[in-house]
Amino acid sequence: MGQGTGAAAVGVRPVAARIGAEITGVDLAQEPDAATVAALRAALLRWKVLFFRGQHLDHAAHLAFARRFGEPVAVRARGSYSPGEHPEIETTADRLELGGRYGMDRDEWLERRRHTLLRGWHCDHGARIDPPAATLLRAESVPAYGADTCWANLAAAYEGLSAPLRGFVDGLRAEHRLGVGYQPRAGEDAYLRHLLEHQTASRHPLVRVHPESGERLLFVNGYYVERILDLTRAESGPLLELLLAQAVRPEYTVRFRWEPGDVAFWDNRATIHLAPSELPAGDRPRIMHRVMLAGEVPVGVDGKPSEPVTGTEAGRW
Ligand SMILES: [Fe+2]
Repeated sequence: MGQGTGAAAVGVRPVAARIGAEITGVDLAQEPDAATVAALRAALLRWKVLFFRGQHLDHAAHLAFARRFGEPVAVRARGSYSPGEHPEIETTADRLELGGRYGMDRDEWLERRRHTLLRGWHCDHGARIDPPAATLLRAESVPAYGADTCWANLAAAYEGLSAPLRGFVDGLRAEHRLGVGYQPRAGEDAYLRHLLEHQTASRHPLVRVHPESGERLLFVNGYYVERILDLTRAESGPLLELLLAQAVRPEYTVRFRWEPGDVAFWDNRATIHLAPSELPAGDRPRIMHRVMLAGEVPVGVDGKPSEPVTGTEAGRW
């Protein structure tokens, strides 16, 4: 065991009032002992996203650390920069690559990201029946400025609602679907065809009970959720807007300024996050490596699990 490992060495320094803590005293490249893993688990449950500065892991060390906390998933559709020898690692070397794959140039893709498909805040793979439990994202290279990531605490957002509204939303469900809000291009739209061929949708509780902490989580985001079930259109729209605004109020969020080598480890059940929508031009590309840990089917306050709609099968990636 390397020097400085062990739970006693783990420092937890909160970054914001309700979410985010910087961890010190842990070298992620060393196999953490059981006490360290337990301390980090507790910190993750409490602070929802943990930041580790200056780690400089390679793929194998990134995966080995992730495995101490769960089972990494191997995503079939990964970007072309992802390492072939590690199917559990997704690498993003250019966030605009996706647009190019579907015949859009940089400007069009940026514009469409901004106004339609990627309205921003999301949990990873939230339209699946079993969204990942956690994500570990590591920065290899980041622009000098302007590529921050933000996270919001969905337990704090729920807690911050008035008691009558909490009682009302407790019993509701919402449909989460990949590609909601996307407006097709005029003429040929390869991305729309892709969306139609890979539809993914689930009915999730609007208030999810965290499987470890028992906290109630306001399970909404603008990326996957289009409507609340059983309400009229006139009721669903304004309520959803209200809940989305609630979820990302600044007092429930934290913002992280990346440096190369940093790792962010978040609870993908208790948070939503916002990736940068614009990257300043410069000589430092944004190269990020992501590992996600398998999650379970969400359960509502009534004890009932989410239901698949289409394209979702637990455990199949
Ligand atoms: Fe994400």
